[in-house]
Amino acid sequence: MLPKLMAANWKMYKATAQARASAEELCTLLPVTPEQREILVCPPFTAIAAVAAVFAGKPGFLTGAQNLYPKEEGAFTGEISPDMLKDAGARWVLTGHSERRSLFGESDAQVGAKTAFALAQGLNAVLCIGETLDQREAGQLEQVLARQLAAGLADVPPSCPPVCLAVAYEPVWAIGTGKVAGPKEILEAHALVRRLLCEKLGMSRELRILYGGSVKPDNASEIIGLDNVDGVLVGGASLQAESFSRIVRA
Ligand code: 13P
Repeated sequence: MLPKLMAANWKMYKATAQARASAEELCTLLPVTPEQREILVCPPFTAIAAVAAVFAGKPGFLTGAQNLYPKEEGAFTGEISPDMLKDAGARWVLTGHSERRSLFGESDAQVGAKTAFALAQGLNAVLCIGETLDQREAGQLEQVLARQLAAGLADVPPSCPPVCLAVAYEPVWAIGTGKVAGPKEILEAHALVRRLLCEKLGMSRELRILYGGSVKPDNASEIIGLDNVDGVLVGGASLQAESFSRIVRA
């Protein structure tokens, strides 16, 4: 079994000095990576190199990016390529985060192109999926997750090693709202994601499925103990090293 992936998404927070200080504090609070845990921190682009430098030589501490552009190089003003992310020290990248989808208009097809290109270029990817409250209340949970998974992984071969790819289920209504999905909702959605991944898409059973949405130190241990929850993706509560370290240990 792969270690649980405990991921922090710092979104558009922390300039270089703050990011470095938080990464150093995290290393102090977690002198060794807890058994069966990997720690992934995704800072803003400008702080990737600083965080990667702090994590260098620390087993189990990984650095990631929050986005990429699916081309090697070219006239794409304002965008960033997988090689540039690797050059800065990133080994992972998030794709399809709901804020990318809703605020920046990323389509399912674009998310799929980013995920496949990231993997082809040697980055590991966390594909984020999740339904809005309207979709959930309209009974469209399965339809939405099936569509996002099929499009997000359209060009990813089932032979993709499970260590290189993870899926984060982040119900949009639970992101940054303090409204965490209950154990029943998480169990149901994660079982559904597992079934879609294995039966519909032929992906490995070992693929990690992370939960994201208002994960905090006081609910992390219950969430991480649920079936088919192989890690968490944490926004707000990952900004303080102290609270993220408690989540990692949960
Ligand atoms: P919060 O933990 O702040 O709800 O954010 C979740 C998220 O979007 C992680 O990617």
